[in-house]
Amino acid sequence: MMKIGICTGGGDCPGLNAAIRAAVKHGIRNHQMEFTGILDSFNGLQDRPMRTIPLKNTDVMDILHRGGTILGTFNRGCCFSGADGDHKLQLTKEGFDELKLDALIVIGGEGTQGMSSQLIQAGIPVIGIPKTIDNDLPGTDTTIGFSSCVDLVADSVHRLRSTAESHDRIMILEVMGRDSGYIALHGGVAGGCNVVLIPEIPFSWDSIISKINFRKKLGRNFSLIVVSEGAVPAGEQTQQFQTTPDGRQVLGGIGQIVGIRLQKETGMETRVTVLGHLQRGGQPNPQDRLLASQMGIHAIDLLAQGLHNQMVIKKGDRITHIPFSDISANSRRKISSDDQLLKAAEGLGICLGR
Ligand code: F6P
Repeated sequence: MMKIGICTGGGDCPGLNAAIRAAVKHGIRNHQMEFTGILDSFNGLQDRPMRTIPLKNTDVMDILHRGGTILGTFNRGCCFSGADGDHKLQLTKEGFDELKLDALIVIGGEGTQGMSSQLIQAGIPVIGIPKTIDNDLPGTDTTIGFSSCVDLVADSVHRLRSTAESHDRIMILEVMGRDSGYIALHGGVAGGCNVVLIPEIPFSWDSIISKINFRKKLGRNFSLIVVSEGAVPAGEQTQQFQTTPDGRQVLGGIGQIVGIRLQKETGMETRVTVLGHLQRGGQPNPQDRLLASQMGIHAIDLLAQGLHNQMVIKKGDRITHIPFSDISANSRRKISSDDQLLKAAEGLGICLGR
């Protein structure tokens, strides 16, 4: 009987539980596998005593629709780097051996899967499942959590439209995404906004101001803007960061800067909404439930065939896999200049700040 450990790492997102459920159900039902849940990313294997829970069919009942992760998670950078990195890697390997696991299923984003590569080098067989609202993991067309996040952004733009139209205002929505603009572009276009600012295209103030003034000339006395947290004005190198209550620097604040400048330059009343962690919470939409379920099933099929060290991916409409060695460590996917949605956005007259 194969014994499989399963964990979630990095920021939470909708669909993690759906992936856990699919893997456990399929593994137990069709391959007589046994599952151990590792708590709080790899921490559960490093801590002594170790922190794990058995995962049986009954433990994954009724979690398909639940946000967050029943296994907990952790997103404070790479735990296998820095002064005690080697020691933590060793503890993780010892924990894995002590539990007599045959492989780990790691559901995570770029940071977590970078750590998975280190585990593979240390001799732990891994199957990766990609998740992140940012959609910035290389190798896959899409990640678990992205679609639900886009739903929320699109709905938020739509809601802001009421105030924008009623009060003749510029309404700005700052969204997450780190150094990639997928959330802003997809959510902004789907929400029908007028300006989308993404990290991949340093933006010109003039182009945004002319767009707003052009709309005013047409009698549209309001504008809706989505700005990605990683966006920067052309000519400036630095992104905006904020300090969390625990003293960490996280991206954020560009929305306010854009708001102040546009209010001054256009004379229009301007308001800024930061969508924040609402983007990571709540139920997965049906698309994410399906993606997570298919990816969980595929991970088990790979293990059942004796395949390891693969990342489950979605290419076109197919769920498939690539070796971990094909993914360059710690690289993040960005919107390419020939992205079709980028072109469609401009076709629709959406200003991308250039
Ligand atoms: O990677 C997911 C993400 O939500 C990013 O979009 C965002 O920059 C970051 O995590 C926020 O992290 P934290 O939850 O630590 O504030």
